[in-house]
Amino acid sequence: MRSIIIYHSWTGNTKQIAEKIHSGIKELFNECDIAPMKDVDINKLSKYDLIGLGSFVQSFQEPAPVTDFISAMPDLTGKYGFTFCTHGTCAGGYIERVVKGLRRKGLTVTGWNDWYGSGFIPLMPKPYYTDGHPDKIDLKEAREFGKDITQRSLRIAQGDTHLIPELPDRKEYDKLYGAVMDLGGGEGMADMVKLKPVHNADICLYPKCTKCMDNCPTKSIDLADSPKINYNTCGPCMVWLCEQLCPTGAMEVNWDIADNMMNTMTSIFEKLAEPMEEYGELRRFRSLITEEEGSGIPLYKKQRHPKLIIRDGVIRES
Ligand SMILES: Cc1cc2nc3c(=O)[nH]c(=O)nc-3n(C[C@H](O)[C@H](O)[C@H](O)COP(=O)(O)O)c2cc1C
Ligand code: SF4
Ligand code: SF4
Repeated sequence: MRSIIIYHSWTGNTKQIAEKIHSGIKELFNECDIAPMKDVDINKLSKYDLIGLGSFVQSFQEPAPVTDFISAMPDLTGKYGFTFCTHGTCAGGYIERVVKGLRRKGLTVTGWNDWYGSGFIPLMPKPYYTDGHPDKIDLKEAREFGKDITQRSLRIAQGDTHLIPELPDRKEYDKLYGAVMDLGGGEGMADMVKLKPVHNADICLYPKCTKCMDNCPTKSIDLADSPKINYNTCGPCMVWLCEQLCPTGAMEVNWDIADNMMNTMTSIFEKLAEPMEEYGELRRFRSLITEEEGSGIPLYKKQRHPKLIIRDGVIRES
């Protein structure tokens, strides 16, 4: 079975999981490629028998580039596929949406899996409560998953079609992966739109530096244009990559507003953690930090520039 693992990862969690799934598959079949989603030529996907697509979860589903990637995939009827993700609370709508998306492209979906991953969300406490994941145990599990999914896909291809998994019904799905929660309400969330970055040209290194432009997930920045930031498309993105990656502090966000929001954010944080407590074992969560650490200082309060850096294509704390 010729296969490929495709991953979309910002901070490296999904990349690590993808690499282990890849090693697991390679124990059985040598012909397995691995590539970040941005480097994949969708027109060459038909040369693979098994396609594994993985990503982090953003706003309880797959990030927009993953939705676009699936939409752009050619018809792959007769091929096999699976998906995986990492997340800071739950897979939410990711699994259902991606499984259905792959099926729409003709793939027979042979399985899926999800793992916890450390988080770099500026408004959340750092260390975040899933920090340390994926750990050795997760990575071992990912390797096993790689082997299992290949064996299962092979058996399905040989006619054992009863092994093709069904998505759980709504109630079971929500128990396993978390209901999509409405985070839209509340005064605090309304203030979020005020946290849009403002560009300070006096300390900007452009054109020597283009970090904010290159990494804005919504492509809202063009420092050669006027206006430099498109505030219609800058949500902001909840991760403020422009501000966090800027080496000089030239992308300014008024974090005083965030201070006022923190009470609301804390309750949202607790709300997100609720299903974890309710379903305990089912969600397989192992905390790797102490409760004290989990109530640490949010990343946005750290007064240094840059707050995050990119090394080997992966976003990390500076
Ligand atoms: C902007 C943003 C939004 C996120 N939204 C969610 C979410 O809705 N649910 C969740 O469980 N995790 C969410 N996360 C956490 C990431 O899914 C998690 O940290 C993941 O492991 C990151 O994977 P990566 O290292 O491959 O980028 C979000 C992270 C970011 C940066
Ligand atoms: S806050 Fe996010 S979406 Fe807005 S400009 Fe910065 S990186 Fe882009
Ligand atoms: S990251 Fe900062 S210094 Fe670099 S181009 Fe953007 S605003 Fe200027």
